[in-house]
Amino acid sequence: MAQETQEKVIVIDFGGQYNQLVARRVRECSVYCEIYSYRTPLEKIKEMNPVGIILTGGPNSCYEEGAPTYTKELFELGIPILGLCYGAQLMQHVLGGKVEKAPVREYGKTETFLNTESPLFQGLEEQTIVWMSHFDYISQTAPGFSICAHTNDCPVAACENREKNLYAIQFHPEVLHTVRGKEILSNFVYNVCHCSGSWRMDSFVESAIQSIREKVGDGKVLLALSGGVDSSVAAALLAKAIGKQLTCVFVDHGLLRKNEGDEVEGVFGPNGEFDLNFIRVNAQERYYSKLAGVEEPESKRKIIGEEFIRIFEEEAKKIGAVDFLAQGTIYPDVVESGLGGESAVIKSHHNVGGLPDFVDFKEIIEPLRDLFKDEVRKAGLELGLPEYLVFRQPFPGPGLGIRIIGEVNAEKVAIVQDADYIYREEIKKAVKEGLMEEPNQYFAALTNMRSVGVMGDERTYDYAVALRAVRTIDFMTAEAAELPWSVVQTVMSRIINEVKGVNRVFYDLTSKPPGTIEME
Ligand code: XMP
Repeated sequence: MAQETQEKVIVIDFGGQYNQLVARRVRECSVYCEIYSYRTPLEKIKEMNPVGIILTGGPNSCYEEGAPTYTKELFELGIPILGLCYGAQLMQHVLGGKVEKAPVREYGKTETFLNTESPLFQGLEEQTIVWMSHFDYISQTAPGFSICAHTNDCPVAACENREKNLYAIQFHPEVLHTVRGKEILSNFVYNVCHCSGSWRMDSFVESAIQSIREKVGDGKVLLALSGGVDSSVAAALLAKAIGKQLTCVFVDHGLLRKNEGDEVEGVFGPNGEFDLNFIRVNAQERYYSKLAGVEEPESKRKIIGEEFIRIFEEEAKKIGAVDFLAQGTIYPDVVESGLGGESAVIKSHHNVGGLPDFVDFKEIIEPLRDLFKDEVRKAGLELGLPEYLVFRQPFPGPGLGIRIIGEVNAEKVAIVQDADYIYREEIKKAVKEGLMEEPNQYFAALTNMRSVGVMGDERTYDYAVALRAVRTIDFMTAEAAELPWSVVQTVMSRIINEVKGVNRVFYDLTSKPPGTIEME
């Protein structure tokens, strides 16, 4: 791929929770960046010819036996290196400085004093707020280093050896709480590494199209299109590159959000703007009959996943032998499955919930495997996909099947679709009016609970809808979002008035853990 020849910065991961964030921030500075484990051999790092290296934070104490480390030769390559938190301590430790348990543990937003003559801090104020999270500290810098930042409790908040282009920062510039963090990373890549800043989405799209064409030749490609952001952007990219050599199979399992099936067909189908083979399989009835009477969440997930595979197989058989299977794998999938973390094993990852082993194809293509989610979105816009599709919230493969507690049927699907549509519409409106920030994920779910109510003098015995809205960065942990009361009230009254079969609305306050974001 073209990325191999890109000017790149390498992040060496020491197990810090913000490793992906570091790489994303660098890419936001228009510099391509990849993450590798600290176990990656020096030879491999040299082969990649990086213009700069960043060492991440990590949970260990670098002076303890068995703690993650890196050979001293790394610092002698002549490549600019920036150590962050653990990475900063490790750099100092390996080069002869002293790291020990700090008398005062620093955690949270901390006032810091910078030497703005340092290339790292050029253009910044001398006093700024940074995000600290450490119990060890650099008590003595390595020979050749001078201190360029301190806090009241931390004498070495940053130090540098300008001659050798080595920099160590105790705090986390990658975290948004570090007010001028982005500028600090930008200063590193531009003032220290002298990057040209050539990583842009228009050039990515151009070079990805080129390399897809080279790889595929006149072969046939099959893509399972879910309507989610990743597979949609992959479809658009492949369609631009190879047109009718691509076939997209879109399974409408009847568990999509309101209008979603038609929206996907509108974009990728015969009346859309892409010239590809599009197969929509309307499998609603097939799914509802398989799901009839099934209440247990895992059984439901299994049925939905298996049925998807069966349908995909049937369609693949009709098409005949294909040369390539395309997947919407993105960079976080790659990192999480081992490439960037502790192991070198790359697991094939996909976002459609398990594809058949014996679909007859020769090779897999994953055109988005180097991109972060926000970059996938930018590429999607670049390719002309509509905003509503590009900025879609995460939506689980089993769809509304896991947002309907208990048995799934057509009536319940219609209820949750309508309630969810109203909820999303009102939140979008409130966000536009400046009443609230958009939560990271929000949707309506159908509890399996029915209760008594009264409507227009009539007794009702109807379902309760649960509203969910969460704030999260990584979707591994989440907090319930605080919605303005007026918005909740409007949503409640619209749902009860407009959606038949609902007479009660709950707001789900549970954080994750102990809850999960989805209901099942
Ligand atoms: P949970 O419910 O585990 O969800 O807190 C975390 C994030 O993952 C999404 N999710 C799924 N995505 N297939 C998917 O592709 C699934 O089976 C699935 N289950 C949950 C969920 O929407 C949230 O963003």
